[in-house]
This record gives sequence, C-alpha cells and structure tokens, in this order.
Amino acid sequence: MRRYSRITGTGSYLPPRRLSNADLVRELAAKGVETSDEWIVERTGIRARHFAEPDVGSSDLALKASQQALQAAGLAPTDIDLIIVATSTPDMVFPSTACILQHKLGSAGGAAFDVQAVCSGFVYAMTVADAMIQSGAANRALVVGAEVFSRILDFKDRTTCVLFGDGAGAVVLEASDKPGILATDLHADGKHVDILCVPGHVTGGQVLGDPLLKMDGQAVFKLAVGVLEESARAVLAKAGKEPAQLDWLIPHQANIRIMQSTAKRLKLSMDHVMVTVDQHGNTSAASVPLALDAGVRGGRILPGQLVMLEGVGGGFTWGAVLLNL
Ligand code: UT7
Repeated sequence: MRRYSRITGTGSYLPPRRLSNADLVRELAAKGVETSDEWIVERTGIRARHFAEPDVGSSDLALKASQQALQAAGLAPTDIDLIIVATSTPDMVFPSTACILQHKLGSAGGAAFDVQAVCSGFVYAMTVADAMIQSGAANRALVVGAEVFSRILDFKDRTTCVLFGDGAGAVVLEASDKPGILATDLHADGKHVDILCVPGHVTGGQVLGDPLLKMDGQAVFKLAVGVLEESARAVLAKAGKEPAQLDWLIPHQANIRIMQSTAKRLKLSMDHVMVTVDQHGNTSAASVPLALDAGVRGGRILPGQLVMLEGVGGGFTWGAVLLNL
C-alpha cells in the first residue's frame, strides 16, 4: 500500500499591527515618498498588510502558527519528528529558524532545518517533507512559512515597499495510507537572480552590499504568469487530473492580476482561487499557508477537496503541490 503524507492540521498568525493602504500612504508621505491607495489597489489588489514589532522575529510568528496547526491536528510538539521552516528572513544567519522554533515549541531530537526558496519556499518545504514522509524518514512533520519582510524593505522605494507584509502559516503533515499529497513539481532558473534579490551578505561582521529588497516588478510579473500555468498543468498531469477538477487553487499571494491571469489560462473561475493578498499583502513564503489556513478556518476549503498550492519567486523558483485535503 502506498504511503502518503496528509495535512492533518493548519494554523496561521499575523502580527497585530495592521496598516491599511491609507495608513501606509500617510507614513510614506511623511518620508517624502509619494503613492496612493488607488495605485496600490488597482495594480496589486492589496488593501492592507501586517508588520511585526521590531523585537518579533520569524520564529515568534512561526511559533503561534505552529501551535494552532498542532492543536488542529490534536498533536503535541513532542509528537513531531521533522520541522521545516521556509523563510528568507530568518532570525539569525545561523542556526536555522527551524531549530529556534523547535526549542520555543518545547520539542527536541527530531530533524529541523530551513528551506530558502523565497516566495516558493512553502511549496519547496512541503515537497521535501512529503518525500521524507513517503520514504519513511519522517512520520509527523511541521511545515511552516514565516517571514518578517518589513525588515528588508526599502521604505524609500515605492515600487516595492507597498507590496509586502509579515506573517506565518503552518501545517502538520502526517504519514497516512489515505491521500494526501498526490503530486509535486519544483523548478528553478538561477539566471534570473538579479530580478528579485537582497544582494547584501555578511563579511567581517558587516553587511556588504545592499541588505534591502530589489525587484524588477515587470520582469517578475511576466515570468510568474508563464511558469504558474506550466507548473499547474505539470502537477495535474502527474496525478492524472484536469484543471476543471480543482476545488481550490491557492497561489502565492503577490498580485491579484497574476492570480487572475493564472486562473484565466487554466479556465478556472476566480470562485475557485483563494485570495488573501488584499488583506495580507505579499508575505513571501508565508502567503500560501496563510491563505490555506484562512480557507480552512473560514469553512470554504473542506476535507476531501482537491487543492493546488503554487509558489513563484526569487531565484527564480516556482512549483506546485497537488493534494486532497
Ligand atoms: O513575491 C515574488 C513575486 N513578486 C511578484 O510577483 C511581483 C510581480 N510584479 C508586480 O506585481 C507588478 O509588476 C508591480 C505591482 C510590482 C508593479 O506594477 P506594474 O503595473 O508592473 O507597474 P510598473 O512597474 O509598470 O509602474 C507603472 C508606473 C510607473 O510610473 P511611470 O513610469 O509609468 O510614470 C511607476 O513609477 O507606476 C509607478 N509606480 C507607482 N506609483 C504610485 C510604481 N510604484 C508605485 C507606487 N505608487 N507604489
């Protein structure tokens, strides 16, 4: 009998400080940066985002999301034998945020590591956890996307600072003879490093280069719509399914126009696309598990439904996970 991995609990957490577009526009105006609610809504669909307080790190957001997911799964932290955190904004250069999270959860002994695939991080982390569970290397995994992107934003650059937010989402994945994750599909093309990056690095106790996010938005946009369609079709083909059979598409939440375009290419109504970008902004690796948990807790995403998770982002990286909830 095939051994699958199945989601048995979801959770999420947003830091309490919520900034509507109007709040952000006001803060930016005080710094001499001009933008507007109209521009942000029309070009991105974003209406609000959450920012963590300066003393709150990705592991703190991850902890709250993980505790919710564990509670939903009816498990204790000590039941978990694998923790994978997808993040581009780790608490420290090392050790991993996953190790810090493990300790904060009050667990020890299982494997714990971070995955760095920027906005595709959660889809990458789910694929690795699924493979480890299928192979018998792990039985009960906690897979988390957690980010404090507010730390790496250039608040003088209006083309990027209005887009991102902070948050975390988590799932518990358990071994099961019932599906579960049906298929996964991951890709990267490193020639696109420069279109979305934080180019700085640490040397001799100092950050060398620029420690803030740089993005060529139009180049990212064009690549994103193409690869999201390709990856969606690839993962469906692997499982012998058609786009029309999808109950939910949960794409990375970067821009409503990218999601609409992906849905159109797949001939999928937007009623089958989970959208949280309006309230969360782009939370990078946290966006997919945040949207998944919002759908589950809101009673929209139901047990047994066919769900596709999709990520795309810096690297360039992209991929999809197809699963039965
Ligand atoms: O998470 C990883 C994946 N990331 C993404 O998927 C992001 C992909 N890219 C995008 O979502 C879009 O390209 C953006 C939202 C970043 C930009 O939207 P766009 O429709 O591609 O706008 P644009 O870059 O072509 O800029 C149009 C105009 C420019 O002015 P001019 O040159 O036409 O006079 C910009 O200077 O909008 C201006 N602009 C702004 N105006 C007001 C750029 N940012 C702002 C702003 N407020 N915040």
